[in-house]
Amino acid sequence: MRLTKLEIQNFRNIENSQLIPVQGVNLIVGDNASGKTSLLEAIYYLSHIRSFRTQHVTDLIRRQNPYLQLVANIETAEQQVIPLGIRRSRNKSQIRVKQQPIKRVSDIAAQFPVLAIHPDSYKLITGSASQRRQYLDWGVFHVEHGFFKAWQRFKKALAQRNASLKSKQKFEVCQLWNQEINQTAHYIDQLRQQYFDKLTPYFHQLTSQFFNEDLIEIQYKRGWPVDKKLIELLEENLQKERLRGYTGFGPQRAEITIKVNNQSAQTCISRGQQKTLVALMRLAQAMQFTEATNKPCVLLYDDLAAELDEKHRNQILAVLSTMNIQLFLTAIDQDQINLSAWPKKKVFHVEHGKLKL
Ligand SMILES: Nc1ncnc2c1ncn2[C@@H]1O[C@H](COP(=O)(O)OP(=O)(O)O)[C@@H](O)[C@H]1O
Ligand SMILES: [Mg+2]
Repeated sequence: MRLTKLEIQNFRNIENSQLIPVQGVNLIVGDNASGKTSLLEAIYYLSHIRSFRTQHVTDLIRRQNPYLQLVANIETAEQQVIPLGIRRSRNKSQIRVKQQPIKRVSDIAAQFPVLAIHPDSYKLITGSASQRRQYLDWGVFHVEHGFFKAWQRFKKALAQRNASLKSKQKFEVCQLWNQEINQTAHYIDQLRQQYFDKLTPYFHQLTSQFFNEDLIEIQYKRGWPVDKKLIELLEENLQKERLRGYTGFGPQRAEITIKVNNQSAQTCISRGQQKTLVALMRLAQAMQFTEATNKPCVLLYDDLAAELDEKHRNQILAVLSTMNIQLFLTAIDQDQINLSAWPKKKVFHVEHGKLKL
């Protein structure tokens, strides 16, 4: 799957621009504040209906305009063209896939898998566990079938249990959802574990190149202790949880921990090392995805030159050039990025939100 055309209207500082990228590498060059990140953000938004920079849609809609609009063509591995479209105003969103309106974000995400690495990505290591669950679940969603349905069922049962805990319902009422939670939780854990086991060899292969003198460990934790049964924890802790008002154990508490030389990557390595490590986590994910599904995915890498020193930058570029991905890079200067390893490339220039070749 690749992006073959994107028309952007009123997204950040981009009033009206058309992007016709190539399958290999697309380099977006422009001064500070010209709109490079916004362009990547638009591609990301099309896939996730969410930005990697903000939670507020009003930040994304070009000032003084009623809505933003993105219209794109996606080409599948079988060369089928899928038109996607989004129009988003402050309080309404319309999404279309193949001219048909869709309600669920997952329907568009499934058509258009996009991964991003940007200056805030290190928060995947330093931030909350929910970000690492999102990281894991991107892959589980795209690679392991059945995850989305199981997750929806789980979420519903958990919300109901938490609501009855919070409103201090009778013991028997709070208990009602334990079975459903237990069943879906085990299935979710199984899919996450399966995916994690497939992902880690790619991650270790990369870390052995980039951190060859360090011991890097990555571990998946399912959200309840390995030596305990979830159903028992749900039963045993009900009284306590009625006081707290939420469920303490389950896949909603899953976590990925990363250690460098037996110390937490959250607190014991430099920001630069965190940035490299996160980049490798994403690359591993893109590699696993393309090999497992035999389909290319899109990778957005914002400000690569500013993020990594020259040695690591060239090392990353060498890895990227071997991958079966459609790549979008941004840079202030074209000569910061050596594109010689790519047979298919295109350079775009952005000036004040306008795109030029
Ligand atoms: N909703 C908006 N409407 C208009 N301009 C915006 C909006 N949001 C951000 N901008 C402006 O868009 C410009 C481009 O930002 P950005 O894409 O981050 O630039 P770059 O990545 O090239 O440095 C900035 O000057 C910013 O102030
Ligand atoms: Mg930027």
